[in-house]
Amino acid sequence: MSAVKINFGAGPAALPVSVTEQLALSIRNYDGSGLSVLEIPHRGKLFDAILKEANERVLQLCNLDAATYEVLWLQGGGRLQFAMIPMNFLPEAGAAGYVDSGFWSSDAMENATLWGNTINLASSKDCAYKKLPEIPERFPENLSYIHLTTNNTIYGTQWKQFFNSPVPLFADMSSDIFSERRDYGLFDLFYAVAQKNIGIAGVTLVVLKKSLLTKVVRPLNPYLSYRDHVAAHSVLNTAPVFAVYSALLMLRYISDRGIAAIEEENLQKAGLLYDTLEKSVSFELIAEKNSRSNMNVVFRGIDPETENNFKLFCDYKGIEGIEGHRRVGGFRASLYNAIRLDQVQYLANAITEFDKTRT
Ligand SMILES: Cc1ncc(COP(=O)(O)O)c(C=O)c1O
Repeated sequence: MSAVKINFGAGPAALPVSVTEQLALSIRNYDGSGLSVLEIPHRGKLFDAILKEANERVLQLCNLDAATYEVLWLQGGGRLQFAMIPMNFLPEAGAAGYVDSGFWSSDAMENATLWGNTINLASSKDCAYKKLPEIPERFPENLSYIHLTTNNTIYGTQWKQFFNSPVPLFADMSSDIFSERRDYGLFDLFYAVAQKNIGIAGVTLVVLKKSLLTKVVRPLNPYLSYRDHVAAHSVLNTAPVFAVYSALLMLRYISDRGIAAIEEENLQKAGLLYDTLEKSVSFELIAEKNSRSNMNVVFRGIDPETENNFKLFCDYKGIEGIEGHRRVGGFRASLYNAIRLDQVQYLANAITEFDKTRT
């Protein structure tokens, strides 16, 4: 059994040791308050300060201003956002455009069909999502919004460039937020589940333009309404204090390192792993080169026996969470912000060592 354990899982994903240590301390005594972070009230000044700093850091990291954008911390994961977006912004007789680059984007679109019409603007379903679909030069008229998924966690593809949208542009950034420099100002609303790049499961970050709040198309139960969440400053109901605090620690970690440095390391990590896999005699990469993700590297063994042997080899090496998503099979190494270059080097060395057992 290896003393090393590295979590390459797609989420819940690895956290930096400095963050888990701080979380452990805060469970005993939060910031000298004498209370565990698990028992501090969601409507008290301790949590107010956590929320305030988390919101400020999000806007700072996105280079967005508080006069234009709101930051929300909601429960319900990505799935609730798939539902809330059309409930709030898709009129029954209207239409929204969805870019279908994988399971999550298509699920988001399916959710929307319950509330209004959806137009599939571009899809790569025909090639099993091995590449990104081609965005059309012109969009149909009168769309209420366009939705896309910036990184396709299951298939290992990622958009690196975005466009100026003629209508509000919404994005699921769950698996690549704060992993690279990005013009967040192109988006009117974006969201990210925390358990990949910014913390633990239980909370989802939503950033949206204040101006959208005047475009809500139907009355909604408060928990499903962005307007109500904004009015309640993310504490409409009992907030997931520990999950938001975990996200704050990740935001501090990301701010301290700086997104440019994180991007640089993410490029090195992905480059190293793709190069190793390209040279490997045991594996093949699945996503097409121009579409490849820097966050999720998806590959498979050249035959079932190789796959089984590599799984056992990973267990022996302490390489965790590397199985591919059940829809695709094979393997997937998630290289989110908390994964270090030396850990990717460890995985690359393991692949090279495994190759040698075959030659
Ligand atoms: C891009 C993307 N969107 C949405 C989700 C769904 O998130 P949740 O399980 O928190 O609803 C996932 C989960 O992995 C994802 O990768």
